[in-house]
Amino acid sequence: MIYPILTPQEAACYINDGDGVGISGFTLSGTPKAVLPEVAKRAEEAHAAGKPFKINLYSGASTGDTIDGMLARAKALNFRAPFISNPTVRDAINAKEIKYTDLHLSLMAQDLRYGYLGKVDVAILEAVDITPDGKVYLTTAGGIGQTVANLADRIIIERNSFHNTIGLHDVYEPKDPPYRTEIPIYKASDRIGKPYVQVDPKKVVGIVEVNMPNEQVVFKELDPVTRKIGENVVGFILNDIKRGIIPATGLPIQSGIGNVANAVLKALGDSNELPPLDLYSEVLQDSVIELMEAGRVKAGSTCSLSLSQECLQHVYDNLDQFRDRLILRPSEISNHPEIIRRLGLIAMNTAIAVDLYGCVNSSHIGGTRLMNGIGGSGDFARNAYVSIFMCPSTQKAGAISSIVPMVTHADHTEHDVRVVVTEWGVADLRGKSPDERAKLLIENCAHPEYRNLLWDYLKITKKGHVSHNVAAALFMHATYDAEGDMRKVDWSKFV
Ligand code: COA
Repeated sequence: MIYPILTPQEAACYINDGDGVGISGFTLSGTPKAVLPEVAKRAEEAHAAGKPFKINLYSGASTGDTIDGMLARAKALNFRAPFISNPTVRDAINAKEIKYTDLHLSLMAQDLRYGYLGKVDVAILEAVDITPDGKVYLTTAGGIGQTVANLADRIIIERNSFHNTIGLHDVYEPKDPPYRTEIPIYKASDRIGKPYVQVDPKKVVGIVEVNMPNEQVVFKELDPVTRKIGENVVGFILNDIKRGIIPATGLPIQSGIGNVANAVLKALGDSNELPPLDLYSEVLQDSVIELMEAGRVKAGSTCSLSLSQECLQHVYDNLDQFRDRLILRPSEISNHPEIIRRLGLIAMNTAIAVDLYGCVNSSHIGGTRLMNGIGGSGDFARNAYVSIFMCPSTQKAGAISSIVPMVTHADHTEHDVRVVVTEWGVADLRGKSPDERAKLLIENCAHPEYRNLLWDYLKITKKGHVSHNVAAALFMHATYDAEGDMRKVDWSKFV
């Protein structure tokens, strides 16, 4: 099959008002870069002519400004799932201009196949190349590429000559019930699929030639707080190894996204006491490549290479060194509960807030404003060998405590949260009663300025297996909304 070469503008004409568009990529990596900005322009033109133009966008995770940002600014998004991080799309979702469903990332491909979400009319895949018989070699992320290619009526390939990931992918799509069998991954480095996405060549409407790097993630510099959180996480893992709870050979690690997760990875790298580990995660950052080269990380299994341009170039220049140890998987597999439980991961994710019994808010500030979404944190937290949630003890110069009587939005219940770490210390909640959990969280994790306030809350609670004062439980949040500082909370009206 010889595919037509299209300009981005020509390719964008295959996408119409009301279409469901499924794309490759995961976070800023591996997403198409040229066609969707042209779709945003088409939408703006249609709106200027008084015509409707909105699409439903399905991806593996978040995207960057060239997709979510431009489409949101052009008011071209009707529906979005399963995760976002771009500020423009975040504001539009919070303003209810875009409908959004927050999903465990492992479920995205499956939900599309099960028909829970809308139809996928068009798939856009960023590829290193496509063969005449429809083998598509994806670039820097697994995402939901195979699934959207199977479901779509039309496929557009963005052939991006900047990338060179051939041989890194392991594409595997489970069968749906009642035909599903086990997914035969027994260690992080196992390969069970094909190095390419197989598409029906007849559905490929054309190729758009591109030469563009991924958008770049910029992390905040490490500060004393994030550095201390990292040290506390490493101290906790080492202690569990010494106590024989984590095997001396170590267990594979999963690390979440954001500034805190980045600081923890750095601390893991700086520790000489940890055994060489495998990574089984959804994102892989520069620090992991450095650790692989230093022999500290043996294998890196991930859904996306979230690397700086220099680091990615380094991997491309030394691909032979990395091919056996770096595996790019679809998000359905990188985040699959079965594999996470089997491999026994040490999962490390960041919380927005934690309540006194261990329930975690990962996604909604103040219970209303979507931050990014639950992402993969729930896939990993529920199924890990040990699930660690970390966060700074306060936000906004101390005006917000991250440890609160009750979270305003619960993504992870106390049943899935085993360990909480802040810059002040570690609350190991495993095997603890609710009262014991509250004590550990107040004494070991809350900021000293908030400890008495939290003890005072417990004094006004109705006693039960879990003690709460249902009228007062969210009052620290209400105090912040009203007075801009949770430290001004006054429990006296509830006594
Ligand atoms: N109240 C108000 N704002 C809060 C807050 C709280 N309790 N907790 C965090 N924030 C704000 C911070 O102030 C910061 O705002 P800014 O950008 O205006 O400075 C922002 O949220 C990010 O917080 P930061 O402390 O820099 O942490 P981070 O970059 O590590 O991100 C999460 C933290 C929770 C937002 C991020 O990890 C996330 O989206 N997690 C959910 C998905 C997930 O865990 N995926 C990983 C699975 S592999």
